[in-house]
Amino acid sequence: MKWVVFNQKGGVGKSTICTNLAAMGAIEGKKSLLVDLDAQGNSTYYAGCELNDENPNVAGMFKQVAGWFNKNQGPDSFISPSVVDSLSVMPSSKELATIERELETRYKMFKLRDALQTIEKEYDDIWIDTPPNFNFYTKAALIAADAFIVPVDCDDFSVQAVTRLLDNVMEIKTDHNPNLTFVGIVINQYTSQAKYPKRLIEQLKEKELPLFDTFINSAIKVKESHAEQRPLVLGYPSHKVSNQFKALHNEIMECVE
Ligand SMILES: Nc1ncnc2c1ncn2[C@@H]1O[C@H](COP(=O)(O)OP(=O)(O)O)[C@@H](O)[C@H]1O
Ligand SMILES: [Mg+2]
Repeated sequence: MKWVVFNQKGGVGKSTICTNLAAMGAIEGKKSLLVDLDAQGNSTYYAGCELNDENPNVAGMFKQVAGWFNKNQGPDSFISPSVVDSLSVMPSSKELATIERELETRYKMFKLRDALQTIEKEYDDIWIDTPPNFNFYTKAALIAADAFIVPVDCDDFSVQAVTRLLDNVMEIKTDHNPNLTFVGIVINQYTSQAKYPKRLIEQLKEKELPLFDTFINSAIKVKESHAEQRPLVLGYPSHKVSNQFKALHNEIMECVE
C-alpha cells in the first residue's frame, strides 16, 4: 500500500508521524519505503539519512522520470538505507524547490505515480511525507497514493481548515485518482488538559469525519528523537508515545484488511 501523510499546515506532525509509522511497520518486519517530498528534508533526517544533494534523492528521481537525464536509472537508484532495518528512504533534496516550477509547467504530476508503480511490488508499504503546501509535490503524492492520513495538532486546528483541506484532496481524487481512500485524522500533540480538543473532536464526529481512536501525546522524547536522528519507535520502543504509534499503525492497517 502507498500511504500519504498530508496537511497543508506546517508543524502539525506530518514528518514525525510519517517517519514513525514507516519505522513501526519496518520494525514489525514489513519491507518499507519512506519518500520525502518536502524540500526541508525533516523525515529524511529523522530516519537517519544524510541530507546531501550529491547523494541519490527524490529530485533526481523526478528529473529521471521526467526524461531530463540521458542515463537509464530506475527509481531504485534514488533510494538509500535508513537507520531502521527494512526501511529504505528516497531522500529529500533542496533541489525539489528549484525544479518544481519546471516539473509543473511540463505536466510531470503523474510521474511519481508511474515511478512508484515500477517499484511498489518490492515493498509492503510506501509512506510519502509531503510539504506544508498544496503544491505540485503534494498533488503528485495524492495521485500516486492508495490512501491518505491527515494529522492535526491538538491545540490549533479548526474543523473549517480540515474541511477545506478535504475539499482540495477530493478534487484530486475525483479528477485523477478515484481509488484514493481517506483513512482518517490523527490528533497529534494531545494533552488531556487542553480545552479545545474535546470540543473540536465532537465537531469532527458530528461531521462524520473519520478519526483514529489513538491520539499521539506531546512528549519531549519526540523532539529528542528528532535531534538523535532515530525515530522514537526505534530509539525508545517502550515509551508511551511509541506505544501510541504502534496502536495507530495497527488501526491504519486494520482499515485495509
Ligand atoms: N507528539 C509530539 N510531541 C512533541 N513534539 C512533537 C510531536 N509531534 C511533533 N512534534 C514536534 O513538532 C515539530 C513539528 O513536527 P513535524 O513532524 O516536523 O511537523 P510537520 O512535518 O507537519 O511540519 C517538530 O519539532 C517535532 O519534533
Ligand atoms: Mg514535515
